[in-house]
Amino acid sequence: MRSNIAAGNWKMNTDVEFGLSFIKDLHDKGNHDNCEVIIAAPYISLKSMVELKSNLGSSIKIAAQNCHLEPKGAFTGEISEAMLKSIGIDYVIIGHSERRQYFHETEDQLLAKIKIALENDLKVIYCCGEPLEVREAGTHLEYVADQLNGSVCQLSQEQLSSIVIAYEPIWAIGTGKTATSVQAQGMHHSIRNLLAKTFNEDTASSMSILYGGSVKPANAKEIFSQNDVDGGLVGGASLSVDSFYEISQSFPG
Ligand code: PGA
Repeated sequence: MRSNIAAGNWKMNTDVEFGLSFIKDLHDKGNHDNCEVIIAAPYISLKSMVELKSNLGSSIKIAAQNCHLEPKGAFTGEISEAMLKSIGIDYVIIGHSERRQYFHETEDQLLAKIKIALENDLKVIYCCGEPLEVREAGTHLEYVADQLNGSVCQLSQEQLSSIVIAYEPIWAIGTGKTATSVQAQGMHHSIRNLLAKTFNEDTASSMSILYGGSVKPANAKEIFSQNDVDGGLVGGASLSVDSFYEISQSFPG
């Protein structure tokens, strides 16, 4: 069965000291038996966070927010997936809308990143989602299906077991405007149908699909209660241990 996941994405908001005290405080709050917890931190924090969580014996997983698509070479300022793996990173976020928008990352590049992540034994949180004008035009299901057809659907069935999909409508990210649980469920259901058609029912039902976009303690329960929503990718509300912990406790049953 697929796992429930609470993933935090700190973006470019935190320093090393913050990362360490967050991991310690989150660990002190107790076990997370009800879901897998992942924190995506800035590059500079990753190594010390991996070391700390290992020393604490914590099951928290550490993620990078990006990586380069080439294995090595003259790419000043970039970080390769092998480098991430070498310090014990578990996951990498690929295709966040901020990367697509501000760094012009294309679906082909994202697919290349996914493949090299998998070659390096990293798991991937692949983000997809439509801008406001697409939602208003009513073509959001097709838009997201195109994103997935160009990336995740190009993988083998075996490779899919290392992929988590995060649906993040761009109009809901950092805006305080969350998709309704019905809107989230509608998209997640459509994503799962696409996976079932491309692969098969078993593969589709074994994949975790997260919702992202202004998830907070006040709305997490309602969103996570939807059949095809398996957790959240949380930005702003993951910057406080208390609110992130509360979100991680919002899964049904
Ligand atoms: P938000 O960000 O929760 O602040 O809307 C989510 C994300 O970008 O992953």
